[in-house]
Amino acid sequence: MVRRAVYPGTFDPITLGHVDVVMRGLKLVDELVIGVAENPGKGPMFDLDTRLNMVRAVFVAQPRVKVVAFKGLLVDLAHEQQAQAVLRGLRAASDFEYEFQMAAMNRRLDAEIESVFVMAREDYTFVSSRFIREISAMGGDVKALIPEVVIPYLEAANRAN
Ligand code: PNS
Repeated sequence: MVRRAVYPGTFDPITLGHVDVVMRGLKLVDELVIGVAENPGKGPMFDLDTRLNMVRAVFVAQPRVKVVAFKGLLVDLAHEQQAQAVLRGLRAASDFEYEFQMAAMNRRLDAEIESVFVMAREDYTFVSSRFIREISAMGGDVKALIPEVVIPYLEAANRAN
């Protein structure tokens, strides 16, 4: 059996915290499917195609990672991808409540899918896509917190605004 997990997120944009979670996840499974959620409700800064392109560019040399877009339920994506688990990263206690609710709801929707959590590297516990967007829009330097391929995307988005 191929051990496969889906790692869902909005990735608006992908950060080094996300990359760290992927690398930890790859120690646990054979294949990881990164599900980039459309999430229009979140009013993302980058459209779905741009977020997909950024995530694909980050993992272009990683054959055990596949990147897909998804619009519906996470449990449906897990089924489609024949994944046994959902992977999420935990940064701090403040993440716990939301993650706990989401995992409980997903279990309610499909008891076969396990939620698995990895703890992000200490250096990234304070990194979030929201802070990256906010700080870079105000001219702050976030280059050490995002993958190199994301830098030109952020610069272009800030020039356009
Ligand atoms: O990185 P994010 O923005 O916290 O990711 C949130 C995401 C995409 C994991 C969440 O919004 C999601 O799972 N969306 C799919 C819809 C769904 O399945 N909802 C029911 C689970 S609570």
